[in-house]
Amino acid sequence: MANTILLLSLATILLATASEASPPELKSGSFYSPPFEMTPGKVVFDYFYGVDFPTGHLAVKTFRADLVDDDDNVIPFHEVYLHHSSMSRYYQAQNYSIPSVLETETLPYSETGGFVYRRNDGICQSDILGQYLGLGTEMQSTPYVVPDPYGMEVGDPAQIPAGRDLYNVSVDGLGRELDQFGEPLPDDYYGGLSCCYAHTRCKVKEGFHAPSRMIRLRYSMTWTEWEPSIVPVRVYIFDITDEMKLKVSRDTGAVTAEHDCGLEYMVESCHVNGPKNNIIAAAEDDDDDKRCADFQKTIVPMPNGGDVIFGLTHLHGGAINSTIYGQDGRVLCKTEPIYGEGEEEGYIVGISTCQPEPGSVWINDGEMIVHETVYTAARRRTGVMGLFYLLVADRREDALTPPATNSFLRLPSLLAEKVTVGPGVTATSTSGAVVGVGLLLVAAVVLVVVVGKRTKTGGGCTWV
Ligand SMILES: *[C@@H]1O[C@H](CO)[C@@H](O)[C@H](O)[C@H]1NC(C)=O
Ligand SMILES: *[C@@H]1O[C@H](CO)[C@@H](O)[C@H](O)[C@H]1NC(C)=O
Ligand SMILES: *[C@@H]1O[C@H](CO)[C@@H](O)[C@H](O)[C@H]1NC(C)=O
Repeated sequence: MANTILLLSLATILLATASEASPPELKSGSFYSPPFEMTPGKVVFDYFYGVDFPTGHLAVKTFRADLVDDDDNVIPFHEVYLHHSSMSRYYQAQNYSIPSVLETETLPYSETGGFVYRRNDGICQSDILGQYLGLGTEMQSTPYVVPDPYGMEVGDPAQIPAGRDLYNVSVDGLGRELDQFGEPLPDDYYGGLSCCYAHTRCKVKEGFHAPSRMIRLRYSMTWTEWEPSIVPVRVYIFDITDEMKLKVSRDTGAVTAEHDCGLEYMVESCHVNGPKNNIIAAAEDDDDDKRCADFQKTIVPMPNGGDVIFGLTHLHGGAINSTIYGQDGRVLCKTEPIYGEGEEEGYIVGISTCQPEPGSVWINDGEMIVHETVYTAARRRTGVMGLFYLLVADRREDALTPPATNSFLRLPSLLAEKVTVGPGVTATSTSGAVVGVGLLLVAAVVLVVVVGKRTKTGGGCTWV
């Protein structure tokens, strides 16, 4: 098992002023990560900062990513497994330097606020799942699409923190007992993310040799200059392992949610511990793949609802489907994995996406949404994931469908908190000249890429 993880981060200095009134011209381009070397079994987990990305105040319209070799050929997953690739945003002070490559799951820490991570609108704790684009292998054939009149806004000069604001970047939550940080793994941990980090080397078949290869991530996108007629989308990533706790303040009665997204979980085989509750109704003579299924459900409040514009999921091999339901049980978005063929059999190479007619599917503010992920339980699967990526936009004023009148659970203080500042970044405006450091921050974009190779048998951290 080899696992390569690569994270790209881009610094885009925004000097552009407001765009002219001409209709936005669709531009397209392909960009590349710095090359990295793979040898059999090798795990690469890199964060690349300052990679190429179009500059200016933009609307991203489509995005996809592939691993390519020196000749720009796409590399199949049975040769190199792309575990994750994603793109995030940050602000960087003009005189603050960030290494072009960082390893392991840690953001550059800056006491002065020279680095500020700008997470998406999602609800996981700290900077967890804070990216704007990108999940996993499904990106090979599943582009991210933001249809007209919507756009994913990047590089708005007005949003760049500047002047005497001091930003504290918290990296709490990143040091979760992962063994890359020297912490022991629980006894019942049989394999997953915690086994695969920079400089680990997974066991390969005895006698297996292959030359080292230089690999890059190619990310292709289309975009336009931003203009006022474009409706911005909000980016949410829901995690099926989120163990949310609601807390009510004794003093004010305010309700806050504490999210705890664990990213991965284990599906136990339906053959363990006698008769299972995960046998689903199916013909007696169906094989276990059809008869045993593991259902996970998580219920979380939608901070800031609106029209559903686009949805897709990140699932691992063995996944059957994943769905988001509204509080009243209506299906908001259902996705199913597309499995590879031939040598890529068993790998997820794509995901069926949701792109509803804008205005036809919506979520109310504060609505409790149900996130469901179904895996086959014919055998144990370690380190599986259920991430739901959802783009949502403000409801159109001419929307024909009125807002639902159900008495949804509303959590006003929680919502306000989640919408303004992403967890993990505490922004404190300091008045006057109390703080001696004046930071000029420039906008930046982070592209995160994770690449790896999994064995189909899995199980435990088996390093060389
Ligand atoms: C930043 O964090 C430090 C350490 O937690 C704390 O002492 C300081 O007050 C914080 N500053 C601001 C502006 O939040
Ligand atoms: C997901 O798959 C399971 C198992 O096949 C099935 O019972 C369920 O109805 C599916 N969910 C949806 C929303 O179709
Ligand atoms: C550059 O950073 C240092 C601290 O690292 C700070 O003292 C100085 O004021 C900064 N200069 C500018 C122009 O922001």
